Amino acid sequence: MSGLTEQDCSHINVTPLTGVLGAEIDGIDLTSGLSDRVVEEIEHAFAQHSVIVFRNQNIQPEDQKRFTRMFGEFGVEPYVKTMPDHPEVIEVVKDKSEIGVKNFGGNWHSDWSFQEAPPRATILHAKEVPPYGGDTLFANMYMAYDTLSSGMRRMLDGMRVMHSARRPYGIDNKLFGTAKRSMTIINTEEAHAEYAHPAVRTIPQTGRKALFINPVYAIRFEDMTERESRPILDFLNDHATRDEFTCRVRWQPGTLTMWDNRCVQHNAMNDYDGFSRRLHRTTVAGDRPSI
Ligand SMILES: [Fe+2]
Repeated sequence: MSGLTEQDCSHINVTPLTGVLGAEIDGIDLTSGLSDRVVEEIEHAFAQHSVIVFRNQNIQPEDQKRFTRMFGEFGVEPYVKTMPDHPEVIEVVKDKSEIGVKNFGGNWHSDWSFQEAPPRATILHAKEVPPYGGDTLFANMYMAYDTLSSGMRRMLDGMRVMHSARRPYGIDNKLFGTAKRSMTIINTEEAHAEYAHPAVRTIPQTGRKALFINPVYAIRFEDMTERESRPILDFLNDHATRDEFTCRVRWQPGTLTMWDNRCVQHNAMNDYDGFSRRLHRTTVAGDRPSI
């Protein structure tokens, strides 16, 4: 847990986005390095709010990579082509010519939760945004867990969930069918692998438990069939993204948002046909989830 108190945070200004999730941070320029003290304050705000937003950051991929490394190693980026000169950076792009095309990240999910050690955080920097639309929604998985009944929490505390990249990145591509998709996605049989994670994980920085499922990658409970699992997963997926657990980030050119994949799901809106949207994404490596 962070040793800082509210009064200690004197180098940054933190303004919550909602009462439950997210905050904007002012007073930071990411074109240069940050002191250890400032990084500690950002970590404190990140632990408290789980989604942090920095506006008007006129940065290049090198700056974003330096910022990412302040929080850990780079994550591993599978199934999507990365930028030619920056293998740690994905360019998330939907062009104005792509009408009626499925966008990247347009379902509730936690990034790469099918990995053995999914990324702790994702950092997304907006280069080009539509005049309206293309917001990203976030949902608080601490609240999702805390608001379940004691019986459901007790049951889930002892369960593991199989995660897989099969639906979006497998060769049968069940989730999206034959719908056209933006981005260069690599569909492969390797994506059919399943990896078990606890249904509930404890976040070391806060000591709090968060529900760790999502409708894209969490396929079934361990030792159960998909059909047996579906009623409970459907309930949990609906519950976890209730309006009152969410915040919404509206992008401007230069907005940089960092979120905690361990305790937040996100969903990219696809309501800007006819306009281009282009962002740069990096991830911070995480640990194997544990309860
Ligand atoms: Fe995502």
